[in-house]
Amino acid sequence: MKKLIIANWKMFKTKLEIDNFKKRFEELLPFLNKKSDYAIAVSSIYLDYAKTNLKNIEIIAQDCYFEKEGAFTGNISYNQLLDCNIKGSIVGHSERRSLFNDTDEIINKKTKSLLENNMLCVLCVGESDFEYQNNKSFEVVKNQIEKALNNIKKISLKNLIIAYEPIWAIGTGKIPTVEEVNNLIKKIRLLIAQLYDNLVADELKILYGGSVNNKNAKEFLSSKNINGALVGGFSLDPNNFIELIKIGAECE
Ligand code: PGA
Repeated sequence: MKKLIIANWKMFKTKLEIDNFKKRFEELLPFLNKKSDYAIAVSSIYLDYAKTNLKNIEIIAQDCYFEKEGAFTGNISYNQLLDCNIKGSIVGHSERRSLFNDTDEIINKKTKSLLENNMLCVLCVGESDFEYQNNKSFEVVKNQIEKALNNIKKISLKNLIIAYEPIWAIGTGKIPTVEEVNNLIKKIRLLIAQLYDNLVADELKILYGGSVNNKNAKEFLSSKNINGALVGGFSLDPNNFIELIKIGAECE
């Protein structure tokens, strides 16, 4: 399976910075003779700008609301994403869960609205440091996945990607061992097989996220079981992003 590298730009970058990223990215891209798949999740205000300007890159959203339209000031809908040719969104990122009160129920509705409209959904799950220290990682992740996928039919799952992101590893420089990530991802696959079937579980892309950089990416991506990476801080620099795309292709 081709590796997938998704950059999560969070609330970073202005138009000028996007232009600068594009310039450097386009200079470097032709030198990669083998590429992994890649996408960038940008702030909603720049989705259209990024889509128009970063032509070589799949642009996705960082979040989107589950209603098609209505009196929901400040939100953007899956339908508006479709209208701007944006094929999907991240959902349930730990920053959305902790800072913006995205509950499991809301995340379920967001996941459902994207998947049922044939859109890509990058569902983020992960445990806190406390939960990790108390060996509760899988218990927490299992609960998050079961709730997020509640009442979602097998037929809709083809556009689902799960990103396992331990909260304590996000933006901290701390990372779990590859063995820990591998074990957890194996358990996620088993869970999906139980909830749906083996084929869905085998075909599901599961990424690792949390302090991924050029020094640790190879280790994670070399594992057959880890299908890619969701990368925050390190992906803001085009040189770094290209490097990760290259590492991903080498690990295929
Ligand atoms: P990080 O963020 O790579 O900066 O740790 C990852 C994420 O939040 O998706």
